[in-house]
Amino acid sequence: MSQTHHAEPPADAPLIINVSGLTKSFGSTKIVDGIDMQVSEGEIYGFLGPNGSGKTTTIRMLCGLLTPDAGTGTCLGHDIISESALIKLKVGYMTQRFSLYEDLS
Ligand SMILES: Nc1ncnc2c1ncn2[C@@H]1O[C@H](COP(=O)(O)OP(=O)(O)OP(=O)(O)O)[C@@H](O)[C@H]1O
Ligand SMILES: [Mg+2]
Repeated sequence: MSQTHHAEPPADAPLIINVSGLTKSFGSTKIVDGIDMQVSEGEIYGFLGPNGSGKTTTIRMLCGLLTPDAGTGTCLGHDIISESALIKLKVGYMTQRFSLYEDLS
């Protein structure tokens, strides 16, 4: 997986994402293997990789939607494991797939 920075934040900006060693397997396949990510408030951060490389899985761990097998850190100042409910209150996440019943108006 590749990662690209596009914009420099102010030097005193706090880290809004600060995680290390995030790891997740589904079955016997290790999908995310020890990702470290530090993103400052106000920074525009591109998170790129091929289809199926684990981007959505990583973002779900950052949002508190998925518990990592290993790794620690914070998102919006809250622990991604012990304070996931607080993260969910603050994050807007437009999912890749429409996840409501298709017949809702
Ligand atoms: N809940 C799950 N159970 C089992 N396998 C999963 C699950 N979620 C994702 N995977 C698998 O993990 C791998 C990574 O998927 P993920 O959706 O994180 O990739 P992605 O980088 O977001 O891909 P894309 O660019 O297509 O959006 C894929 O092989 C996918 O099939
Ligand atoms: Mg995806």
